[in-house]
Amino acid sequence: MSEYETILAERKGRVGVVTLNRPKALNALNSQLMREVVAAVEAFDADAEIGAIVVTGSEKAFAAGADIKEMQSKTFAEVYSEDFFSEWDRLSAVRSPIVAAVSGYALGGGCELAMMCDFIIASDTAKFGQPEIKLGVIPGIGGSQRLTRAVGKAKAMDLCLTGRNMDAEEAERAGLVARIVPAADLLDVALDAATTIASMSLPIARMAKEAVNRSFETTLAEGVKFERRVFHSTFATADQKEGMAAFVEKRTPKFVNG
Ligand code: CAA
Repeated sequence: MSEYETILAERKGRVGVVTLNRPKALNALNSQLMREVVAAVEAFDADAEIGAIVVTGSEKAFAAGADIKEMQSKTFAEVYSEDFFSEWDRLSAVRSPIVAAVSGYALGGGCELAMMCDFIIASDTAKFGQPEIKLGVIPGIGGSQRLTRAVGKAKAMDLCLTGRNMDAEEAERAGLVARIVPAADLLDVALDAATTIASMSLPIARMAKEAVNRSFETTLAEGVKFERRVFHSTFATADQKEGMAAFVEKRTPKFVNG
């Protein structure tokens, strides 16, 4: 029996797949689901056999947001004291690359969860939005910050202030989404991308992720310096020697993750 009730966690080769599984609530993110997603992703991250992770939902909903029914009666003192939603921050500390495969609704916390992943592959049915304002709250899992960095101030303000959704085309044009694929192909394409990532050197893939993420935290000059030092450090790995030797010898590299 699975140790999880609100998600499915399975391995597909070197890829860990986490599927949100509360279909009756359109995968609304309640506390149990939050704990289970974080635990499953962290377990895959700690597993040396796993090189990348896919987070996905159902065809109708990646996730329709934080669970409104669970939140409804909470008081300020409660949400403040328990630092409600802060557990999600642990996903940002995960070092393995994470691909979000998004079909249907990715609203509120659903959009925020997708944005905590490293990139989003969307089906042509995907709908993104931060509709919290319609409930008398604002985004609480980083939406106002990550959406603004992804799509710029104009569209982030539009979405956060009007609560409207944007479709996959608009999201791709705006830079939120890396690729759009037909709904029927979504999981295959996401798995393919994750499998490609997992076939690279794991430490080097993590360095690439770390370097891109640093761009959100620092100035350009500091970020370029950070990148340069990490680039230099790749030369301390066996995988740099193997990758370049394989190119010169016109063969496929055999990375040893070291
Ligand atoms: N929380 C709790 N339950 C939810 C939910 C949510 N976010 N979204 C949907 N559900 C439940 C519905 O209550 C319904 O349950 P019942 O059958 O028991 O009534 C079931 O899922 C199916 O939903 P609908 O009948 O509403 O389905 P629909 O196809 O008519 O509409 C929808 C789909 C447009 C996504 C609509 O469900 C909706 O608007 N959901 C809420 C979206 C939202 O406001 N999200 C933001 C939440 S706040 C947040 O996320 C804060 C944050 O920053 C983290």
